[in-house]
Amino acid sequence: MSSGQSMLKDRVAMITGASSGIGAAAARLFAEEGAAVVLMARREEQLGALADDIAASGGRVLAVPGDVTSAADVERVVGAALKEFGRLDCSFNNAGYATVGTALHETDAGVYDRTMDVNVRGVWNCMHHQIPAMLERGGGTIVNTSSVAGIRASGAGAAYVAAKHAVIGLTRAAAAEYGERGIRVNALVVGSTRTEMMEEVLRKAPELEERFAADAIQKRVAAPVEVAQAAAWLCSDRSSFVTGAAMPVDGGATAA
Ligand SMILES: NC(=O)c1ccc[n+]([C@@H]2O[C@H](COP(=O)([O-])OP(=O)(O)OC[C@H]3O[C@@H](n4cnc5c(N)ncnc54)[C@H](O)[C@@H]3O)[C@@H](O)[C@H]2O)c1
Repeated sequence: MSSGQSMLKDRVAMITGASSGIGAAAARLFAEEGAAVVLMARREEQLGALADDIAASGGRVLAVPGDVTSAADVERVVGAALKEFGRLDCSFNNAGYATVGTALHETDAGVYDRTMDVNVRGVWNCMHHQIPAMLERGGGTIVNTSSVAGIRASGAGAAYVAAKHAVIGLTRAAAAEYGERGIRVNALVVGSTRTEMMEEVLRKAPELEERFAADAIQKRVAAPVEVAQAAAWLCSDRSSFVTGAAMPVDGGATAA
């Protein structure tokens, strides 16, 4: 039962891919739930505008532009969090990259590289630098963004399917390695969500719009905040016995 207290009161949370979509919704929600938020994304202007907005509503926020494919950038963001707020309690590793799914033999190898780099190496880079900071303070929570494409061939393209499967693999391995040292690690199996990523896909393949909604038992796509709510819960103590999970937030798409 809810205690009525903010879910992330006094926590320090890092969120990647925070400039739009699910990441931006999480940035606002985590701040509303009492966390100091450290926002990372490549687009400096959007990130700055979001940070100004959160600060204007009384939130504690630090925006640090960077690319998750760069270990040095990620290390810099974790360092900035520690410098500004003294510790790192949770992280929502959410930055991702997708293109319209094409047949494997027609997909450029560069698309494969980029897809793996952002979705898999990005999550690896984040956990690699976040875990030492969490061990230092005796524990923490990490949530990585996977997809329905992380547990089934979703028609999203083989590189994306493979990358999101790998995110779940990294999540389970890290959960097993650090469970006894107080770090919980979970993944979100995200279904179709109305974000820039989806708009971009629909611009190139408008015929997919109906299929995205039809995929869910609820026959609609998600709003970004519905995914952010699950991330906030998994980052909070309310999910204290949940680790190594790949949790669907997909309107039932993977149940049917
Ligand atoms: N929208 C959907 O239907 C859907 C479905 C399943 C999973 N997902 C996953 O949700 C996550 C968030 O995506 P979204 O839908 O909010 O899309 P979005 O395009 O609105 O947001 C993606 C964010 O990631 C950032 N980003 C991309 N590459 C980056 C990099 N190299 N370094 C740092 N930041 C980078 C972008 O700047 C942006 O802020 C992704 O991991 C995506 O794969 C989305």
